[in-house]
Amino acid sequence: MPCTVLVCGFFGDTGKGKMISYLAVKDKTAVTARAGVGPNAGHTVVFEGKTYKLRMLPSAFTSPDCRLLIGPGVLVNPDIFLDEIQVTRTQGRIGVDPQCAIIEPKHMEADKKGYLAEKIKSTGSGSGPCNSDRVMRVAKLARDFPKLKEFLVDVPLEVNTAISEGKNVLIEGTQGTYLSLFHGTYPYCTSKDVCAAAACSDVGVGPTNVDDVIVVFKAYNTRVGGGPLPGELSWEEAEKRGWAEIATNTGRRRRAAPFDFNLAKRAVMLNGATQVTVTKIDVLFPECKGATSYDEVSREAKAFVENIEKQLKVPVTLLGTGPGTMEVVDRREELKK
Ligand code: IMP
Ligand code: MG
Repeated sequence: MPCTVLVCGFFGDTGKGKMISYLAVKDKTAVTARAGVGPNAGHTVVFEGKTYKLRMLPSAFTSPDCRLLIGPGVLVNPDIFLDEIQVTRTQGRIGVDPQCAIIEPKHMEADKKGYLAEKIKSTGSGSGPCNSDRVMRVAKLARDFPKLKEFLVDVPLEVNTAISEGKNVLIEGTQGTYLSLFHGTYPYCTSKDVCAAAACSDVGVGPTNVDDVIVVFKAYNTRVGGGPLPGELSWEEAEKRGWAEIATNTGRRRRAAPFDFNLAKRAVMLNGATQVTVTKIDVLFPECKGATSYDEVSREAKAFVENIEKQLKVPVTLLGTGPGTMEVVDRREELKK
């Protein structure tokens, strides 16, 4: 699978970070290019006993030889970017495109008050106001910032060269299908499209160069901020079921609901999914915690997975069975047979 795009099929926070980090290690990915909006994302990676909460860098840093790139469509907050390079000790294999727009303090201020903060309940990261400036063609770009100089590379050129050399490339999406400005629950959504086609555009890869699109779902559904969530449970009920989550980036409570087949089917369509992954299987089926082969998965969990496969008509290739990077049931080989 030389070029694979991975995006979320719900409202974000389905475990993309963990799955990217698994795929990068398992497939010895040569290049991972981060797509999506910017530092409004919060990806959690638990690797070798340490928890990393990333907002800018690709989650594939866990694979020591993987090149880590940020595509020109992505907004960069230079302070967060530089800080995460220190935390992940990845200096030397990071590249950022000169055309990435830069989030400035004024964008964060604007995002923390008024309509965006109060009605949309944005993350306050400055992403919406910065994208607005970008559309107005007044935003500054990475190429204007001396602090970023040593990291500047032509990301589309690097990614497409790797693809043409037959290397494994991952395109890491952020947010989720129903937070898309075009396909999501407008106005309760983020500031651009975040589906698979947009992720490709963010890093400069054309549709003919993509081999696989993996859509990530969680075994139940969550959403932070405003907007509709079909089948929403009370916080008490979510706690009882073990679905009560706190957001990585903003520390807010995530609203929870059961897995939604209507949303999932539409996400498969909107993203052109060739594979689906279901994370947090262990939260629904605790007996599956830490499983790494399909034989270890309980009958009830298998029925849940196979029902998803039947309804979505797409193979469920990867199951998340715990927070650790390697806590995955990988069915790709088995399903090829
Ligand atoms: P903004 O992207 O910060 O403008 O936030 C707009 C809406 O999208 C808010 O409801 C946020 O909570 C939500 N949102 C943005 N990024 C993420 C994410 O990475 N995960 C989950 N929700 C997000
Ligand atoms: Mg998140």
